Order: sequence, then C-alpha cells, then structure tokens
Amino acid sequence: MCMGTPIHQRLRWGTLYLMAAGAMFTSGMRWECPTSCCCIVERLEVNCSAAQVPTVPEGLPQEAKLLNLTHNSIKTLLRHQFHMFTQLLELDLSDNLVGAIDVEAFVGLRSLMTLRLSRNHLKIVPVGAFAGLTNLQFLDISRNEILVFLDFTFRDLAKLQFMNVTDNELVFIAHQAFSGLNSLQELHLDAGNLTAVPTEAFAQLNVLRSLHLLRIGITTLHNYAFCHLSQLKDLVISKCPRLEMLSANSLFGLNLTSLTIQFCNLTAVPYVPLRHLVYLVFLDLSYNPITYIHGNLLGDLLRLHELRLIGCSLKHIEFGAFSGLVHFKSLNVSTNLLTTLEAGVFHSLDSLNILGLDNNPLTCDCRLLWMAKKQHFMDFGGNPPTCTTSVQLQSWTFLDLSELELQSLLTCRRSRITNRKPQQMRVDQGHTVVFYCNAEGEPLPSVTWLNPQLKPLSPIGRIRALSNGTLEVRFAQPQDSGIYLCMASNAAGNDSLPFSLHVKAFPPSSKIPFRLKGWSLIPSAPPDITGNHKHPFDIKTLLIAATIGFLSFFSSVSICFLFMLFWSKSRGQIKHTATIAYVPRSAVTNSNAVMSNRQETSRFTMKLM
Ligand SMILES: *[C@@H]1O[C@H](CO)[C@@H](O)[C@H](O)[C@H]1NC(C)=O
Ligand SMILES: *[C@@H]1O[C@H](CO)[C@@H](O)[C@H](O)[C@H]1NC(C)=O
Ligand SMILES: *[C@@H]1O[C@H](CO)[C@@H](O)[C@H](O)[C@H]1NC(C)=O
Ligand SMILES: *[C@@H]1O[C@H](CO)[C@@H](O)[C@H](O)[C@H]1NC(C)=O
Ligand SMILES: *[C@@H]1O[C@H](CO)[C@@H](O)[C@H](O)[C@H]1NC(C)=O
Ligand SMILES: *[C@@H]1O[C@H](CO)[C@@H](O)[C@H](O)[C@H]1NC(C)=O
Ligand SMILES: *[C@@H]1O[C@H](CO)[C@@H](O)[C@H](O)[C@H]1NC(C)=O
Ligand SMILES: *[C@@H]1O[C@H](CO)[C@@H](O)[C@H](O)[C@H]1NC(C)=O
Ligand SMILES: *[C@@H]1O[C@H](CO)[C@@H](O)[C@H](O)[C@H]1NC(C)=O
Repeated sequence: MCMGTPIHQRLRWGTLYLMAAGAMFTSGMRWECPTSCCCIVERLEVNCSAAQVPTVPEGLPQEAKLLNLTHNSIKTLLRHQFHMFTQLLELDLSDNLVGAIDVEAFVGLRSLMTLRLSRNHLKIVPVGAFAGLTNLQFLDISRNEILVFLDFTFRDLAKLQFMNVTDNELVFIAHQAFSGLNSLQELHLDAGNLTAVPTEAFAQLNVLRSLHLLRIGITTLHNYAFCHLSQLKDLVISKCPRLEMLSANSLFGLNLTSLTIQFCNLTAVPYVPLRHLVYLVFLDLSYNPITYIHGNLLGDLLRLHELRLIGCSLKHIEFGAFSGLVHFKSLNVSTNLLTTLEAGVFHSLDSLNILGLDNNPLTCDCRLLWMAKKQHFMDFGGNPPTCTTSVQLQSWTFLDLSELELQSLLTCRRSRITNRKPQQMRVDQGHTVVFYCNAEGEPLPSVTWLNPQLKPLSPIGRIRALSNGTLEVRFAQPQDSGIYLCMASNAAGNDSLPFSLHVKAFPPSSKIPFRLKGWSLIPSAPPDITGNHKHPFDIKTLLIAATIGFLSFFSSVSICFLFMLFWSKSRGQIKHTATIAYVPRSAVTNSNAVMSNRQETSRFTMKLM
C-alpha cells in the first residue's frame, strides 16, 4: 500500500526493479518493497510511516537512503537490527513505542547521518546503544522519558553535531556522559528535573557553540556554571519560571555573541554577570519581570547591536542606560509599562534604526519629539508607537502626522518650583527640620536636593531627600548650617530655589537643667513660618513635672522619718516583727477550700531591722 505516492511512481519503482533485477542478482541484493511500506525509487526512500507494524518490517530494500518508520508501534530495537542498511543516511523512528534499545542496535549503519527517535518511551539509553554510528551528525531523542545519562553513553558519536534532548525527565547526567562528543556544536537540553547545571558534563563538549537550556528548575544560576564552554557563542535559557538570579560569576568563562534568558523570573538586568561579555551582539531578556534599566551599567557591552525586553514590566529606562553602546541599533521594548523613551537613554541616535515600542502607555509630550524627527529612518516593525494621554493624539501613530504637526502637539511645560519665597530656618541644635519643595511642570519634574557643598542628597541618612521632594534634617547639628538647593528638572527645563538653614549650638551653660538631645515630638514648622522654634516642652510644663516629682520624693522621706521616730520612741519594748493580718476579699465570697488555709494566706510577717 502506498497511499501517499502517486501511482506512476509505484510503476516506475516496479520498472526499475525489473531493470535492476538482472544487474543486482549477482551482488545478491534484494529489491522489493514490503506491502506495508511505500518505496520511492528515484529518491531511494522507503516510507513505512503509519504502516501499523509492531517491528521493523522484513525485506526492506537495502539501498535505501531514507527509512521512515514513524507512527508505528515498534517497542524494541534489537541488536544488529539494521546491520544491512549500510547506505542509509536517515532513519526516522519518531512516534513509536520504543522503550528499549539493545546494545549495538545500530551497528552497520555506517553512513547514517540523521537519527530521529523523538516521541518514544525511552527511559534509559544503555552504554553502547549508539555503537557503530560513526558518521551520525544529527540525533533527536526529544520527548522521551529519559531519566539519566550514564558515563560514555555517547562515546561512539564522534561526528555528532546536533543533539536535541528536550522534553525528557533527566534527573542526573553523569560527569562523563558527554565524553566523546568531540564535534557537538548544538545541544538542546531540558533541565527541568536537574538540581543544577551539569557543569562537569558540559566540560566534555569542547567545541559546543550553541546551548539551549529549557525549564531549569533552579532559582539561582550558580557561579562558574558554564566555565568550560569557551567556544560557546549562543546561550539560550528559557522557560524557567523559578530562576530569579544570576550569580556574579555565573557566566564566567564564556565569550558569547548571543544571550537569551527569556520566560524566567529575573527582576533586574543581570549587569554584573554580563559585564565581561564584550563580544556580545545580541541580548534578549524578554518575558522577565524586569522593571528598570538603570543608567550607565551596560557600557561594557561594547559590541551590543540588539536588545530585546519584550513583555517585561519595564516602567523606566534611565538616562544613559545605553551609554557606551556605540553600535547599538535595535531595541525592542514592546509590551511594557513605559510612559516615555527619551533620546538621552541612547549613546547616539545615529546608529539606532530599529525600535519596537508599541503596547506601552506612552505620554504625549516633547520627550517623544526625537522619534518624530527620526520616523522615516526608523523601522518600527510594522507597529509604530502610540501615545495615550492626549485627546488629539488618542491612539495616534507616528506615521499619521507630519513632523511639523507633531511639534505643536508634543509639548512640555518647563518645571517651576511653586513656593517661590526665599526660605530661611533657624533652629537649635538637635531639632528636626523639614523643607518643602513643590514643583510643577509637564512632565512632572523630578526634585533633587543639593547640600551646601553642592553634593546631591540621597533618600537615606540623617539629612535625606525624600521621594516626595521634601528635605529632612534630623537632629540638626551646627555644621549642617548653610544653603541647601532644591532643583526641579524635566525635559523642558530646570528650576532651583535656595533654602538656608542656621543651626544654633547648645549654649555652654544652659538654664534648662536637662534636655533630651535630638528629641522632638512636634515636627518643625511648615516653610512659611520662619524663625525660632518652640522647645518641645515649655518651662511651665517642666516646672510642674519637677514639682510633682519633688513632692512625691519629699513625702516618702518624711514618712520614713516619722516611722523612725516612732521606732526609737518604743525602744526597750522592741518587737522585731510586725504581723499584719487581713481578710482577703476572695475569702468572704469564695468556697470552704479557700477558708481552710486562710490562716496562712491572710497573714504577713514583716521583720524590722
Ligand atoms: C508516507 O506514508 C504516509 C502513510 O502512508 C503518508 O501519509 C505520507 O504522506 C508518506 N510520506 C511521504 C514523504 O511520502
Ligand atoms: C516520515 O513520515 C512522516 C509522515 O509522513 C513525516 O511527517 C516525516 O517528516 C517523515 N520523516 C522524514 C525524515 O522524512
Ligand atoms: C527539539 O525537540 C522539540 C520537541 O520535539 C521540538 O519542539 C524542537 O523544535 C526541537 N528543536 C530543534 C532545534 O529542532
Ligand atoms: C520532572 O518534572 C516534572 C515537572 O516539572 C514532573 O512532573 C516529573 O514527575 C519529574 N520527574 C521526575 C523523575 O522527577
Ligand atoms: C518569581 O519571583 C517572585 C518574587 O520575586 C516570587 O514571589 C514568585 O513566586 C516567583 N515565581 C515562581 C514561579 O517561582
Ligand atoms: C571571543 O569571541 C570573538 C568572536 O566571537 C573572538 O574574536 C575572540 O577572539 C574571542 N575571544 C577569546 C578570548 O576567545
Ligand atoms: C518587537 O517584538 C514584537 C513581539 O515579538 C514584534 O511584534 C515586533 O515586530 C518587534 N518590533 C520590532 C521593531 O522588531
Ligand atoms: C513627604 O513624605 C514625608 C514622609 O514620607 C512626610 O512626612 C511629608 O509630609 C511629605 N511631604 C509632603 C509635601 O507631602
Ligand atoms: C537641567 O539640569 C541637568 C542637571 O541636573 C542638566 O543636565 C540639564 O542640562 C539641565 N537642563 C536645562 C534645560 O537646563
């Protein structure tokens, strides 16, 4: 039966068979096609796909170059099963029920270049199973149930260049498992059930150029994980929802040109692990929950051409994020949460010519003007960006409007500090001072503070610039005195306002007897109130408190004296103990049990000294 082949091909096979029969007779070769298969003679192909055979059929033509045995129910591959197919180039055994391969099952297939065993039920590959496959270049054992690779499993495959092992359940790869794979250039491996990257096993793959690791079940990529793969150019780590971090030296020893880490759980760009990859051209970190690209941290990637961060949760790309990347020409940050993309993030706009920015909630303002100017030199991948905040530009794309029109629509308003009055504050040492600096503009300006030495202040420390624009000086010291500068800046311009602080040191002899250093319950006055602060406790309060304290001390002392007086008067008839008896309240109301031991519980004996 040869359902898939036109009738004339079958006739031709027949003719050829008849013609060849004489010539072949002497060499003892059989030229026949089993009824369950279909032989395509001009291509020397034997198609036994879906032939419903439980074993490899008998009497297959030995000259075949391709043997297709897919979609059958073959369970075992026996020893020397294929020994007569010395010409075979490709053997396809995908979609069978193969659960066991005998040692030396493929012996004789000395021309075989491609072996497909995908979608079978292999749990283990015995050492020696691939013996004799001296010319094999391509091996697909994906979608099986392989649990372990033992030492020397692939030792006979010296010419193997490509191996696909995805969709297996590997829990262990022996250190010497890949020993002998001296030509392997590309490996696809499912690492879902491994507890670590098989670093030792990879060390055998000395010419590997491309490694695809899927479903790594680990949370952190450990240091030196790939340290022996010096020839590796392309590393893909994909679909590892638990992978959150790359250790600083995890990519040590690699000299990659292309790196992809996608569909993982990275929350930040792994700046430090990447730093030494100076030959990196392509970087893809798509589908990770990365929120920021920070400024000036990727500059070491001198040769980077392309960066993809599609479908992350990017909120902001900082100024100078791509500074130093002189060859950078393609950025795809499609499907993120970016409100803008400023020209200042790039090293230079000259090299940039591919930009994916669609599916971002962009704000329509002057920060996007550079894109309007470059729109005719830019490839937006068929999806030009749209901005969402302007009524006129609702769902607008760059291609719809001219540059001139855009210039009047994409506008900004210069930042301006609203509380313009000169600000002065005089406080005593130890107080907390708060300066408010409110700014407006479009886009909303960022507020920074400079100290009297004109150094920017950070959000931490005793003197800190809070994120809402407020400056806070806690436990003010005399040396904090000086002019503080509030700077408001946005894309349209800057504004600044000086604030002066004078901290008065403690007077040498203070009239107030005690004072809690740095104690302040009442926050310092709002900016429009200038001048001296009230003390946290006024004098009256302190006097009352001191009086109450003194009174209670005085009464205790006098009671003591009174007691001593009585005692000295009764000298001679000294009683060294005083017994005070009382009836506990509970005894009146409670049961007999309490009553019975009242004698003990209701009596205190005090010994007088
Ligand atoms: C091989 O045979 C199967 C089943 O008869 C058929 O569906 C398929 O198209 C054939 N393939 C080729 C390449 O002829
Ligand atoms: C074998 O046949 C199946 C079914 O026609 C086909 O899908 C598969 O690609 C064939 N294999 C090769 C190596 O041609
Ligand atoms: C590897 O095998 C898997 C599963 O069969 C398949 O989806 C994938 O395309 C293969 N990869 C390559 C590069 O052939
Ligand atoms: C391998 O991992 C998958 C899920 O990731 C799990 O279903 C399977 O049981 C694991 N296999 C082994 C042998 O641990
Ligand atoms: C991804 O990371 C977050 C914390 O960063 C964690 O809450 C979440 O469970 C992680 N996801 C997976 C699938 O491990
Ligand atoms: C790193 O790779 C580049 C090309 O990808 C090559 O020119 C360079 O010599 C390699 N460096 C080392 C140290 O192997
Ligand atoms: C960016 O990636 C998205 C998603 O893969 C794609 O649709 C779009 O065409 C890409 N943009 C560019 C400019 O390549
Ligand atoms: C800024 O935040 C601080 C604490 O987070 C708060 O005390 C202060 O009142 C805030 N200032 C303004 C102007 O909202
Ligand atoms: C605003 O200030 C920043 C530094 O904070 C400076 O780089 C920028 O050029 C200034 N912009 C304008 C319009 O003055």
